[in-house]
Amino acid sequence: MGQISYGLQDKVVLITGGSRGIGLEIARYCLAEKAAVVICGRKQDGLDAAVESLGEPGEDVLAVPAHIGKEDDVDRLFALIEESFSRLDVLINNVGMNIMTASIVDTEPSLWRKIIDTNLTGTYLCSRKAAALMKRQKGGKIVTISSVAARRATSAMGVYGVAKAGVEMMTAVLAAELAADNIQVNAVAPAMVRTDFSRPFWSNESLYKDIVSTIPMGRIADPVDVVHPVLFLASEGAGFITGQTIVVDGGATII
Ligand SMILES: NC(=O)c1ccc[n+]([C@@H]2O[C@H](COP(=O)([O-])OP(=O)(O)OC[C@H]3O[C@@H](n4cnc5c(N)ncnc54)[C@H](OP(=O)(O)O)[C@@H]3O)[C@@H](O)[C@H]2O)c1
Repeated sequence: MGQISYGLQDKVVLITGGSRGIGLEIARYCLAEKAAVVICGRKQDGLDAAVESLGEPGEDVLAVPAHIGKEDDVDRLFALIEESFSRLDVLINNVGMNIMTASIVDTEPSLWRKIIDTNLTGTYLCSRKAAALMKRQKGGKIVTISSVAARRATSAMGVYGVAKAGVEMMTAVLAAELAADNIQVNAVAPAMVRTDFSRPFWSNESLYKDIVSTIPMGRIADPVDVVHPVLFLASEGAGFITGQTIVVDGGATII
């Protein structure tokens, strides 16, 4: 872990979907900064494994089983945060999922809803609850993980791309609406990151070669490449930045 510090000591940080991948890495860095960390995920075994892997500082982790697309689960998650800490300083909307889809017109409405519910509605449900707490304490930061799929019509990822484009517009709208409450809302849009989410692509050698040939920096991202921009946006250093999306793609979208 590097020497960069984001001033998160004693802050309460909720990372949705922090049981593996990018979210788990963000949780690790927040704990190293001595923040109080809340993670959620649908599966209890994944949460247990995450708490265990976070090691010594594990006692500062509240791991809550919750599906962020379900309003009752989100209400319960935020009630627990309020009960445990009475505040929330940072929300990282990290949960995202994709199921490869046919073209949008050939996608069944049930699959459309599943992808939109988790990626877009879940981000809305968590952001509104976080904003209520942050308004009361007169400040806070919301950082959402988008994707370069928000700005490219990528085959088999059309519905996911629509959801992530929605997430980026929600970032701008929330930023404008919450600016007067001293709540900054921003997003980070990675290209491919080495996690379970994208394993079928990067674990296939010939596919991996094709993918990196489109990235000027010649590699895909590791989770830590996403952690630093996210934590910068969660820090006081980003106090006058709001409504923005930082693209983290090794140059993929500039060529
Ligand atoms: N990896 C990439 O290539 C890539 C590229 C661009 C953007 N992103 C974005 O980066 C973010 C993190 O991705 P990742 O690669 O770290 O994903 P990941 O490895 O698949 O991890 C996803 C995390 O979210 C949780 N989760 C999934 N659905 C959930 C739900 N409905 N409610 C609550 N928790 C849920 C998972 O736990 P459970 O399974 O237990 O629920 C897990 O903790 C996502 O927003 C993704 O869209 C990823």
